[in-house]
Amino acid sequence: MGVTLKLATSLDGRIATAAGESRWITGPLAREQVHRLRALNQAVLVGVETAIADDPELTVRLSDFAGVQPTRVVLDSRQRLPMTSKLVREAARLPTVVVTGQKPNKRLTDAGVTVLQVAAVDGRPGAKAALEALRAEIGMEMNILIEGGGQVAASFLAAGLVDQIEWFRAPIILGDEGRPAVGAFTLNELAAAPRFRRVAVEPVGDDLWERYEKV
Ligand SMILES: NC(=O)c1ccc[n+]([C@@H]2O[C@H](COP(=O)([O-])OP(=O)(O)OC[C@H]3O[C@@H](n4cnc5c(N)ncnc54)[C@H](OP(=O)(O)O)[C@@H]3O)[C@@H](O)[C@H]2O)c1
Repeated sequence: MGVTLKLATSLDGRIATAAGESRWITGPLAREQVHRLRALNQAVLVGVETAIADDPELTVRLSDFAGVQPTRVVLDSRQRLPMTSKLVREAARLPTVVVTGQKPNKRLTDAGVTVLQVAAVDGRPGAKAALEALRAEIGMEMNILIEGGGQVAASFLAAGLVDQIEWFRAPIILGDEGRPAVGAFTLNELAAAPRFRRVAVEPVGDDLWERYEKV
C-alpha cells in the first residue's frame, strides 16, 4: 500500500466550490468507503487549508470498526491549526500530528498534539521530509492516506510519492472556478507526468470509484 491519495471530486475534477464548500460532493456510500480506506491506514493526512475549511475529525467512523484509529496528520508550515478545531480538541484522546518547518508551538503540544519539525522546501515542510518524519514516528511500514486538498495532492504527486489513487467521482459539474483536485506543479513535458494504471472501476451509489496504481 504505502502512500494512497484519495480524491472525492466532481466529474470535472473539482474538490470544492470557489468558496471552499466541499460537503458533500460524493454520496454516503462513497463516504463509507473512505472510512474503510482510513481503517486500512496507520495515518491520514491533510493540508492546513483543509483542516481550517472543513474542520474534519479524520477518524474511522464505522459501526463494525474495533481497530486502532489512524494518526491524524496536518501539514502546517506556520502551525495555524486552530486550537478550536476538532483535531486539536480531540488530540489528548486521538493521536494527532502537525508537521511543520518551525519549532513546536507550546499551545499545540500542551493540547496533546505531536509537532514534528522537518526541513522546509520553499518555506513549507516538504512531502518527502514529512513522510520520513512520520515513518520515524509511527513506524517504517506505515501506510498513509492523503486526503487533500489540492495543494497537498500536488506536492505528493510532484515528488513521485503516490503509490495508489482512490478516486470517487460524483455526477456533478463545478466548473473552472471550483478548487482543483490537484493544485499546480511544474511539469515541463508529458513524459515527466506522474502516470498510473487503472486497476478497478465500480459504481458506489450515484458515484464512480476508480482505483489506480503507480506505473
Ligand atoms: N472533496 C474532497 O474530498 C476534499 C478533500 C480535501 C479538501 N477539500 C477542499 O479543498 C480545499 C482546500 O484545498 P487547498 O488545495 O486549498 O489546500 P490544502 O492542500 O488542504 O492545504 C494547503 C496548505 O497546506 C500547507 N502546506 C504545508 N506543507 C505543504 C506542502 N508540502 N504542500 C502543500 N501544502 C502544504 C500550506 O499552508 P502553510 O504554508 O500555511 O503551511 C498550504 O497552503 C478546501 O475547500 C476543502 O474543503 C475537498
